[in-house]
Amino acid sequence: MTTTTQTLSGQEIVDLCRRHTLFEWSAQAAVDPIPVAHAKGIYFYTPEGKRFIDFNSQLMCVNIGHGDERVIRAINEQASSLCYANPFMATDVRARLAAKLAEITPGDIDAFFFTNGGAESNENAIRIARLYTGRHKIGARYRGYHGGTAGALTLTGDPRRWAAEPGIPGVFRIPDFYHGIQKGSDTTEEVLSRTEEVLELEGAKTIAAIIVEPVTGTNGILIPPDGYMQGLRELCDKYGILLIADEVMAGFGRTGEWFSVDHWKIKPDLITMAKGLTSAYVQLGAVGMRRQIADHFEKNVFYGGLTYNSHPLACAAALATIAVYEEDDLIENARKMGVVMRGLLEDLKARHPSVGATRNIGLFGIVELVRNAKTLEPMAPFNGSAPEMQALGKYFRQEGLYTFVRWNTFFTNPPLCINEEQLREAFAIIDKGLEITDAAVK
Ligand SMILES: Cc1ncc(COP(=O)(O)O)c(C=O)c1O
Repeated sequence: MTTTTQTLSGQEIVDLCRRHTLFEWSAQAAVDPIPVAHAKGIYFYTPEGKRFIDFNSQLMCVNIGHGDERVIRAINEQASSLCYANPFMATDVRARLAAKLAEITPGDIDAFFFTNGGAESNENAIRIARLYTGRHKIGARYRGYHGGTAGALTLTGDPRRWAAEPGIPGVFRIPDFYHGIQKGSDTTEEVLSRTEEVLELEGAKTIAAIIVEPVTGTNGILIPPDGYMQGLRELCDKYGILLIADEVMAGFGRTGEWFSVDHWKIKPDLITMAKGLTSAYVQLGAVGMRRQIADHFEKNVFYGGLTYNSHPLACAAALATIAVYEEDDLIENARKMGVVMRGLLEDLKARHPSVGATRNIGLFGIVELVRNAKTLEPMAPFNGSAPEMQALGKYFRQEGLYTFVRWNTFFTNPPLCINEEQLREAFAIIDKGLEITDAAVK
């Protein structure tokens, strides 16, 4: 279906975007964007009307699904009364959003600083941790992504960091529990004892915070072994280190809880969020902090600021989005559909020799592909690609299934409003597509 306001064809859109804009994390000659005209529920459409199942919620962010009238109405109403007030003002939507977040965030997280997205939230979280503790160092893992700005990219351990090095001072690595499909996962005891050793070697008294994605997103939907998050919390308490939970991707129902730390009943000192906070209808991020940290800034200056901090349109979008999670019971749906997804993923693993591993928690899922079922040699190397992975991506696109295909993996992260029939429809496409990668298995 083509809308009347559409003036450019899909090809014209792609050509102009490619000529006059830069696409992220890519050599521009390699990008092949899908032109998107409109979207509804779990689907989006090209100007020519080709339908895609959005099996990645765009960038793991459109959690409530596309085109929800309730959120659109809230944005429109806010735009009619007040589009912008500077961050030194107090607004109704800023007030109500912060109070609501204090209700749904874990532990005694009680005060929020609003930003434009995940990276800015993490930048501010580490600054708050440094100001509060008077210490400087921050520990982060290799298999983690925290955003594309200077500090956030230094916290990031994955290859997106490399081009930004040497990065900001004071960041060191704590051990990962997962080491790739062939080496697998450490036990909780192993990873925690190595983590404690690193803290001692770095000088625990010099460390302001540790930042982790409690469930890792782009680096592989890595669900920590039981006891890991509790153990990390205990180590932080033992050494007076703050624990920052980066819930930018895993938060807002994605894993079947409001926040992924809720699975382990962990109380972080700082929590960062974005994406699902507004389901990306308008850009917004936030850093949440415990009461005692917020109290520190009663007398001490909070050195941080952004022109678009607490932007009214974004706060209105977030309030309406949170109401949708509640009204439609989307977190419960993510939990239930996550169980269905688990069954579908296990079925793929049982029937396709190229499926080496699958993981999911709620509607946060991934498939790891291998080219040797015995050695588990990945279908594509670390930070690389392979013709079979490219062919699989091409097949998904041809069949109208959109998802991220990365290295030897692809993601299964639909909007949380998906139903069982839609989930099965998507997995039927995946099932057929895996014949391509199966053919490469030795
Ligand atoms: C865990 C995590 N943290 C931070 C970010 C950065 O968020 P943004 O792109 O909104 O700056 C992302 C983005 O993918 C993320 O997944």
